[in-house]
Amino acid sequence: MGAATEIHEEPGAGGPTASRGDNDIMSCLRRSTAAVHERVEAGLGLADPDIPAGRYRDLMISFYRLHTALEPRLEALFGEFEDPLLDWPGRRKLGRLTRDLSTLGIAPEGLTVLPAALIPAGNDLTFGFGALYVTEGATLGGQLIARNLSTRADLADATSYFTPYGDQAGRRWRDLRVVLRRWVGTDRERADAVVEAALGTFLAFEAALH
Ligand code: HEM
Repeated sequence: MGAATEIHEEPGAGGPTASRGDNDIMSCLRRSTAAVHERVEAGLGLADPDIPAGRYRDLMISFYRLHTALEPRLEALFGEFEDPLLDWPGRRKLGRLTRDLSTLGIAPEGLTVLPAALIPAGNDLTFGFGALYVTEGATLGGQLIARNLSTRADLADATSYFTPYGDQAGRRWRDLRVVLRRWVGTDRERADAVVEAALGTFLAFEAALH
């Protein structure tokens, strides 16, 4: 399974954007990040129900460090973003990661921070949407991860990061796509910058999660 898996279009999304082609921002994002998604998915071993507990702990620490670097920047960009479909506060991940780490017996205060240069630079919404595409996309595969670990007595209670939306994951993803498509519109420069930021963010995840 991976980025090639079909994600259903949101209902009622016809009209001017009905004939979405290769230039659609969501198609561009998926296409441009498919290879790195495949590498991350294959390399993590996260979907393996028998993942060693130590490996899982290391990966959760890396997710925490990534979001520690990203979340304040996204907060600054989306804190005032006026579109209820975006709902930035509901998309924060650090609270859940902190809880998962604590369940695993790890105190986040002692963790080192990631080198700032790992995450792409940028303080505008093209960076914000590129990064958000990656962090929200992780909640799709996350459902599979949480499901596979649900029988692991040692890990099942430390997977809340992967299922932040319960049974609303599909709706939250569709909402993000609506906002992203609306914000990018037909602006090619904007689209290219969002794709570049998404790829850079994905590469940062790959580097931090090895
Ligand atoms: C073992 C780990 C992972 C698995 C098994 C996995 C699996 C999946 C699956 C099945 C989908 C498609 C969901 C659907 O069609 O409804 C998906 C989409 C996606 N995943 Fe992952 N994933 C994993 C890790 C990650 C990570 C760590 C990230 C981010 C760094 C990520 C980012 C994304 C993105 C952005 C999408 C949306 C692709 C699109 O544009 O359609 N995934 N993943």
